[in-house]
Amino acid sequence: MKDNVDISVDFAGIRLANPVFTASGTCGYADELSDFMNVNVLGGFITKSITVKPRKGNPTPRIVETDAGMLNAIGLANIGLDKFIEEKLPVLEQLSPAIFVNVAGETIDDYVAVVERLVSEKAIAGFELNISCPNVAKGGISFGTEPAQVAEITSAVKKAAGEKVLMVKLSPAVTDISIIARAAVEAGADALSLINTFTAMVIDIETRKAVLANKTGGLSGPAIKPIAVYLVNKVYDEVSKSAGTPILGIGGIMTASDAIQFIIAGASAVGIGTANFIEPGCTIKIIEGIRDYCARNKIANIKELTGTLQG
Ligand SMILES: Cc1cc2nc3c(=O)[nH]c(=O)nc-3n(C[C@H](O)[C@H](O)[C@H](O)COP(=O)(O)O)c2cc1C
Repeated sequence: MKDNVDISVDFAGIRLANPVFTASGTCGYADELSDFMNVNVLGGFITKSITVKPRKGNPTPRIVETDAGMLNAIGLANIGLDKFIEEKLPVLEQLSPAIFVNVAGETIDDYVAVVERLVSEKAIAGFELNISCPNVAKGGISFGTEPAQVAEITSAVKKAAGEKVLMVKLSPAVTDISIIARAAVEAGADALSLINTFTAMVIDIETRKAVLANKTGGLSGPAIKPIAVYLVNKVYDEVSKSAGTPILGIGGIMTASDAIQFIIAGASAVGIGTANFIEPGCTIKIIEGIRDYCARNKIANIKELTGTLQG
């Protein structure tokens, strides 16, 4: 039966061998991951956020472990667009997973500039917009928290992205995530990914200082999983299902059964982040576990499972 199971997915017009992606910022530009596993087993690979100019990121310490996850305040450290094209793209071109470039910036023009430079690259299947960044032109408020800004950035980038898939990555730090999701879809997003991290803090009680030099960081890992499952289900029911916009479900996935929860909730594919730090080859087990689950439950095609929450 296992051989008869089809876990390939059509994700916004892109054929994925399976529904498993790595999440942005957790596996660099793929060459880092190649030391630990065969990257070609993945359905998709999402790069670390790329900005026009290189960024050093925040001072250290910028990572701390928590009870059921971790906080990071990397601050979008990255090599910048020129070096990405020169050094990383040739490596990504050799890989079989669908490659998404995660794009970040401080103004809409920044995002558009990255996408315009990369749009003609054959190796790139699409772009993931990290809209959790502060918009310096509009007083430093995150792009992703106001529907009008989400619509503006999505339509500007969609124009630049042409035929490439545009996936908008939603922040959970909003009152109603469906309002943001709808704004993105109506402005031209081909897919949605959710969720990004939650802002959080850890304090050293001896020094009474925050452990991270940046004070706050983004919480990821198993601690956020049930919230992420809920938000994926909400966005699926209220926006994606009727619009036909696929969801990449992200947040605390460690195992195949976690991934399957997201798919039942409404995700067409899943992204694995923090789990890669604990076990770099975990995605291989997750892919095989999804296949086993389908075989055990006589699901011939993984697509049948998306959005099948009962009751
Ligand atoms: C160390 C680290 C760096 C990250 N860097 C980025 C990034 O550059 N861009 C982005 O959109 N998300 C970034 N994220 C967020 C992840 O892609 C993901 O949305 C989040 O961690 C939740 O998934 P997880 O619980 O599986 O890690 C980062 C997460 C971590 C832990």
